[in-house]
Amino acid sequence: MQVIRVLQIEDNRIEARQTQHWLSEAGDGNFNVECVDQLAQGLERLARGEVDIVLLDLNLPDSRGEATFEKLYAAYPEVPIVVLTGEYDDAIGPSTVAKGAQDYLVKQRANSDSLVHVLRYALARHHAQQDKIKNLQLSKSGRVFAFIGAKGGVGTTTTALNVAVTLAMQGKSVILAELRPSFGTLAFHLPQLPARSLRTLLDLPPDRVGQNELKAVLGKGPAELWILLGPQEDEEEFREIDPLRAEAIIRGLSQLAEYVILDLPPEPSLSTQAATTLCHFAAVVTEREPASVQAGRVVVEKLKAWGTRGNLAGGVVQIGVIVVNRTIYANDSMTFADIQEQMGCEIVGISPRGANENLKALNEQVPLVLLLPDSDTALSYVEVANRLTATIVSP
Ligand SMILES: Nc1ncnc2c1ncn2[C@@H]1O[C@H](COP(=O)(O)OP(=O)(O)O)[C@@H](O)[C@H]1O
Ligand SMILES: [Mg+2]
Repeated sequence: MQVIRVLQIEDNRIEARQTQHWLSEAGDGNFNVECVDQLAQGLERLARGEVDIVLLDLNLPDSRGEATFEKLYAAYPEVPIVVLTGEYDDAIGPSTVAKGAQDYLVKQRANSDSLVHVLRYALARHHAQQDKIKNLQLSKSGRVFAFIGAKGGVGTTTTALNVAVTLAMQGKSVILAELRPSFGTLAFHLPQLPARSLRTLLDLPPDRVGQNELKAVLGKGPAELWILLGPQEDEEEFREIDPLRAEAIIRGLSQLAEYVILDLPPEPSLSTQAATTLCHFAAVVTEREPASVQAGRVVVEKLKAWGTRGNLAGGVVQIGVIVVNRTIYANDSMTFADIQEQMGCEIVGISPRGANENLKALNEQVPLVLLLPDSDTALSYVEVANRLTATIVSP
């Protein structure tokens, strides 16, 4: 049996020795325990790697209570943590588990058997969670499709989600990432939200954003789709996505799945520039009306200027337009040929007006391609998905 490397963060020497004794006694030499007595030292030790699991006392000289767990988890979301609590704060243990701890143990009630049991099961659970995403491990680089609105509210998120679900339904491994610094609307489409968001990655130093950290923030969405949700409304403090971090995220995600779908905000930013420079295909979503088309033209021009550097595949970013024919005042005299000409870019998809269908999908929190697969609007998303995968051939 493999040795389990435990990092114990505990300032009480007697208790520290007690756990070590228990683990050597009941653990049959399978546990290798290293102990530090402050949170800061624990963080330093984790930075050096090679720790399988953390046993964390919440009350330390440099941090107290639940915040101790929160700080450690924010810094190392990929390392399983078992929290040790005191007898008198009943609520803390379950609360840390809800926030991502693998388990908790009440100190006064712990013994050698329960400690060994809890650590073993915490690790097994952690591995099972990692296994669920092991089908995301690919050696080759996946394809990245970016969706960007001509302006807000044109239907970008809806399109990105439905295209992503379509690909996932076709059995492909797909990650949908809401790559925006502030709250977006993807959450409204989902019955269950992943426990973590992009926010966790924004709190990490950019050079720490690796595969394990990415996996730790992905959640399961409809049709086995993997989701990286943008920061949520209740997350304090606005933080920009710096371009290097955006690049690390996109590169990392592209190594985890066959397809990465990016839902980008329409406002230009350095992170959006990084995303649309690295992707294989950038789809500009517009409505069928003059103001949106003009705004879309500006976006297309920006993408063309940005996309000359060589994307993930070392090639030129391909750009296409998706027209969402949704406004009630849609100018029918504006032909699709006009739109192509004005935007200086080929149309790769047209979504018919599907207000009722999309509203139903939002209310039921089931993507349209799953809820009403035969509707014209759903079929238009499938067409876009097929068009993009045919244009950008998979590795
Ligand atoms: N094809 C469509 N027909 C009618 N309404 C649509 C269509 N696509 C999206 N919508 C609706 O438009 C609104 C904005 O969509 P959303 O995808 O959030 O836009 P964006 O991401 O561009 O801000 C939502 O209420 C959505 O249901
Ligand atoms: Mg959106």
